[in-house]
Amino acid sequence: MKVAIVGASGETGQSIIKGLLQHGENVDITALVRPASISKPEIESVKEQGVTIVPFELEATHEELVGALTGHDVVICCIIPWSADSQKALADAAKTAGVKRFVPSAFGPSCPPDGVMALREIKEDVLNHIKKICLPYTVIDVGWWYQSTLPRLPSGKIDYALKFPMNNVIGDGNYTTALTDLRDVGKYVARIIADPRTLNSSVFVYNEIWTQEQIFTLLEKGSGEKVARNYLSKTEVEASVEAARKAYYDVDRSFANLLGLAVVQYPNSIWLRGDNLPERAKYLGYLSGKELYPDVEHVKFEEYVAEVLAGKGKAPYANRIFGFEPKDGADSK
Ligand SMILES: NC(=O)c1ccc[n+]([C@@H]2O[C@H](COP(=O)([O-])OP(=O)(O)OC[C@H]3O[C@@H](n4cnc5c(N)ncnc54)[C@H](OP(=O)(O)O)[C@@H]3O)[C@@H](O)[C@H]2O)c1
Repeated sequence: MKVAIVGASGETGQSIIKGLLQHGENVDITALVRPASISKPEIESVKEQGVTIVPFELEATHEELVGALTGHDVVICCIIPWSADSQKALADAAKTAGVKRFVPSAFGPSCPPDGVMALREIKEDVLNHIKKICLPYTVIDVGWWYQSTLPRLPSGKIDYALKFPMNNVIGDGNYTTALTDLRDVGKYVARIIADPRTLNSSVFVYNEIWTQEQIFTLLEKGSGEKVARNYLSKTEVEASVEAARKAYYDVDRSFANLLGLAVVQYPNSIWLRGDNLPERAKYLGYLSGKELYPDVEHVKFEEYVAEVLAGKGKAPYANRIFGFEPKDGADSK
């Protein structure tokens, strides 16, 4: 199976390439990479592991995109999620090139298509386009990354592994959500793209279900430290969503306001609303990864926390600045 990946240097892209290399059968991988990114260490590293690197611009002409995609069975797009037009152009090219399965950049929590998450609406716009042009597809959503769940410890001992510390506790902390280790995403993708049952469907995979209170308690037990909980009531969360919604839709549709909206919509959706749970995903029409692949072994959340406490964790987006990172220990939300 010939697989092309757009977004190979990203967090999800790296996990997918690793998953395909380790778990894919007869997979030949090409990473389509922006010329300016070809010398990034992530790309050098996958090249050394046998991935073919091809310079590629999403802004290229339709004919050039078709040329790059022709001969590939599967195209996986795992670029930043606010890029609907680029992804639609890629989908158009995949259609012309006769690609047998297009995987758009989803890889998020399960969520209703409209009215809950602005980022989700952008992804749905891409999916609607895919359906309009009758392109064979699979949407893969993966729950919430383990790597975005942990709060800071007073000692600062695990700060090195936290890009977005989560000391804000939604409600009483007893809402559940589905979590996945970022490193397992590729393992699931390798199974899904080789599976005829998942064609023209959405699949929801996840590792484990946790509450914030359980996460905080686990971290406290492992560290011997008391973790600060900044409780946010349902009313406070909903008010912050409404304020961010107004700032984006009524005042200024800037990128900063879109990110600001995402930052408050995510906890509302994944904790308060319960959108990111297997039963809700089923209701929304997803196939269940647990039912399709009961044999997949994943990193346990407890193992992940033990790694982080042992100094062996890794922060996502280590070299990236988003602009809403916490300052001096404040929460990122
Ligand atoms: N489930 C979760 O908890 C979770 C968490 C985070 C993200 N996600 C989702 O995962 C998906 C991928 O996000 P990510 O955070 O993994 O990605 P990321 O690390 O931000 O990487 C983004 C990738 O997109 C590429 N890219 C950016 N702009 C591009 C452009 N104009 N043309 C071509 N390539 C471009 C980058 O390539 P360059 O090297 O060329 O810049 C990079 O490979 C998104 O749909 C996101 O919503 C899910």
